[in-house]
Parts: sequence; structure tokens; C-alpha cells
Amino acid sequence: MEAELSHAFLDVVEQAAIACAHTMGQGDRHRSDQVAVEAMRARLDSVPIDGRVVIGEGERDKAPMLYIGERVGRGANGENGLPEIDIAVDPLEGTNLCATGAPRAIAVLAASERGGLLHAPDVYMEKLVVGAQSKRSVDLDAPVAHNLHQIARCLDREVSDLVIVVLDRKRHERLIAEIRDAGARIRLITDGDLTAAIGAAVVGSGVHAVMGSGGAPEGVIAAAAMRCLGGEIFGRLVLDTPEKRARAESMGIDDPSRVYRAEDLASGENITFAATGVTEGALMKGVRFFGEGCRTSSVVMQTNPHRVQFIDTIHVKAQARRRGLRF
Ligand code: FBP
Repeated sequence: MEAELSHAFLDVVEQAAIACAHTMGQGDRHRSDQVAVEAMRARLDSVPIDGRVVIGEGERDKAPMLYIGERVGRGANGENGLPEIDIAVDPLEGTNLCATGAPRAIAVLAASERGGLLHAPDVYMEKLVVGAQSKRSVDLDAPVAHNLHQIARCLDREVSDLVIVVLDRKRHERLIAEIRDAGARIRLITDGDLTAAIGAAVVGSGVHAVMGSGGAPEGVIAAAAMRCLGGEIFGRLVLDTPEKRARAESMGIDDPSRVYRAEDLASGENITFAATGVTEGALMKGVRFFGEGCRTSSVVMQTNPHRVQFIDTIHVKAQARRRGLRF
């Protein structure tokens, strides 16, 4: 069953990535997102789960598809006896990246047995993401320089060797200055802190940490990846208005200052994470189209059985199959 499910989830993210990759560089981020959502939603219909969206495109009244609480999978079409699965989706992580043809846009989802993914409100989350080697030596509330020295020590290198990824936002001016003062290198990204988080947990990716605030939903999906990769995310919701605090409370979050870790954000025993590259990236290539079809590059990871698979798929068009393959 686990193998069948991870294969089905792979298919879902592949189809979302292929759909929006057609819109790459067209300058219309909403259109890119829309086609990814539609493709993901359509493909989820065939997955053998009684699925429920816990992180999706927004509230039911704002999102026509993949809204929070929507039932998906074959169970939603009346089939009984299927596993009850919660899913967190981001059909296109990095809408601007896809719309401009910039690297590191992905289609992604995380899944767990029911109750295994935090229902996070769509607010910012302060994040610190590191790999397995440094996860016991850093603290979200410690000074930036202290964390950088700890990461460098754990990775047996100088602070000046580190690469820290930060979203290029005005709200991060002070953080960026502190990282620079400590002597670490910085990669400023325009979007896509979830993709960056995956990189921080993979040895050899050239990224040693992600710091700063980004979307909380992306934080939960990143936590699912950390559970599979052994890395860590420390996250605190930014609940800076009474409305956001009330919203979080209505979602069962009673301690607004809590620092969550990967095990809190993605607490399920059986976590699956699947992502396909839309545009070029270090871990996953973007979708490449050719006469007979296209080729995708994905990662599928699970906690049980614990494994990480990098999967390259050639998708052959029906006409090409009839003509006979030429590659
Ligand atoms: P979208 O794919 O929804 O456009 O989000 C991209 C992203 O850059 C995330 O990776 C990140 O967590 C968030 O937006 C940051 O939000 P903001 O652009 O408001 O700083």
C-alpha cells in the first residue's frame, strides 16, 4: 500500500509540474498557479485514499479547488475502506519563479495519516532550517552570530564558508546585516523558501541554513521533508494582529509564541513528501519537453519505510506511443 501511495503521489506532483511548466516565463503567475492547481486536483481523484486537504489554496470561499477541508482521492468519490490521509499541497511553490522562468519552482505535496500535519493558518512563520549535523546546536531565539558559529562548528568549517539562504525582503534587512556582520555568505532568493529548506537538509547542496520568515504553510510542508531527510525546522507563527491570533486559536493553536520543530509541524508516523521540479534546480531539474513527450525530475520521500528516492520519468504522448518511440 505504501509503495502504491507514494507512486500515486509522485504522479500527482509530476502532472502539476508538467501543466504549469507549459506556462513558464509567460509572466502570469496566477495562470501558472491555476493550471498547477487544476492538474493536481484532477490527478488526486485517482489516488486510493480518503483524503482531506489540511494545507491548500485557502479557505473554501476563496479557493474553488484544493481548499482547506476539501475531501480528495477516491474516497471523495464514494469508495469505502480507503486509508484516511491528510494532505498539504502547494501545487506551484514559487509562482513568480515559474512566471519568470527563474530557477527552483516546484510542485509539491506532503501526506500523513489523519492528524499528522499541523493545520497552520496562512500567516508568516519565523524559520530556522538546518541539516541533521547542526540541528541540536541551534536555537531560533539565539543571536544569529551564535547560530552561525554553531553551524560552522558542526559542519567542521569556518563561518565564512557557510551559505545561508534568506528571502530578499525588507523585513529581513536586520537579519541580513547580522549574517553579513558574522561573516557568513548569503544567497538572497526572490521566492521559494521551501525549496531552499530541502537544500539545507541535503549534504552537498551548498546550502547550510535557511533563515527568516516565510509562509507558515510552506513551513509545514518543509517539516514533512525534514522528517524524511533528518534535518530540522524551528518555526514560530507570526501572529502580530488580534485577527491572526483569533484565527490561529480557531485552528487549535493556543500558544502563539510556541517554537515548533519538524516533529510538531509534521507529527505523523507515516509521512510522505513528493516534489517535482518545474524550473531548473540543484536537486531537481525542470520539466523538459520534446517531440514525444517530456521528462520530469522528482524526489519522493517517506518516513515508513524510511527512504528517499530521486526519480526521473519520461512521459510519452499517446501519439508518440502509436508511432513508436524514437529515443
Ligand atoms: P508562492 O509560490 O505562493 O508565490 O509563494 C512563494 C514564497 O516565496 C514562499 O516560498 C515563501 O514562503 C513566501 O512566498 C514568502 O512570502 P512573501 O512573498 O509574502 O514574503
